[in-house]
Amino acid sequence: MTRKTALAAPSLLSANFGALAEAVASVEESGADWIHVDVMDGHFAPNLSFGPKTVADLKPLTKLSMDCHLMVDNPQEYVESFAVAGADFFTFHVEAAVHSNRIIQRIRAAGMKPGICLVPGTPVHVLDEILGDLDLILVLTVNPGFGGQTIIDSCLEKIVKLAALRTERGYSYLLSVDGGITTENAGLVIDKGADVIVAGNTFFGAEREKRKEVVKKLKGL
Ligand code: DX5
Ligand code: ZN
Repeated sequence: MTRKTALAAPSLLSANFGALAEAVASVEESGADWIHVDVMDGHFAPNLSFGPKTVADLKPLTKLSMDCHLMVDNPQEYVESFAVAGADFFTFHVEAAVHSNRIIQRIRAAGMKPGICLVPGTPVHVLDEILGDLDLILVLTVNPGFGGQTIIDSCLEKIVKLAALRTERGYSYLLSVDGGITTENAGLVIDKGADVIVAGNTFFGAEREKRKEVVKKLKGL
């Protein structure tokens, strides 16, 4: 049986922040599909990273989708600014949202694709009422905040569950997996049902000329 392949989304969190334009060029030349932008506010996640201006400045440099992952409190406050900046996907944490349905509507109305993310300690069933409204579900397989952590294997069962629910109910969300993915475990994550593989350290930790090979493995090719 041939394995299904996934899209690859390198995470800028592991890039050199002094050379983000070069990082984007390297993602393009590697054959990866999306650019994953980890946004952290120092409250929801214990680190600080990018904001809408980063997206606005990088957007004209690439045709690839800007896959924005907002690890922030009050995600509703950033919908419009990320839309104006050129974000394609706006993924927020269910743990940070009271009115997730309303936020999803606002994201769509602003012209972006809505995604929702689960930290390792959050079960799949909390998404039950909104599954049909989502374009993407991001399963975080490390605790948020930092690149280069080790994958928490038990989180992979969430992908299996979400893939089964999609088939059962006829939904069409993409399943993205983020955290601790390497060229060694990417195949297993795809076999569990991932459509998109996010990787920071594995991509940017490799020498630039080796990144094409890395991306092939992340895609399950
Ligand atoms: C974790 C971030 C991830 C992170 C992944 O807070 O959401 O996107 O950059 O990094 P790696 O692939 O190095 O685990
Ligand atoms: Zn992320």
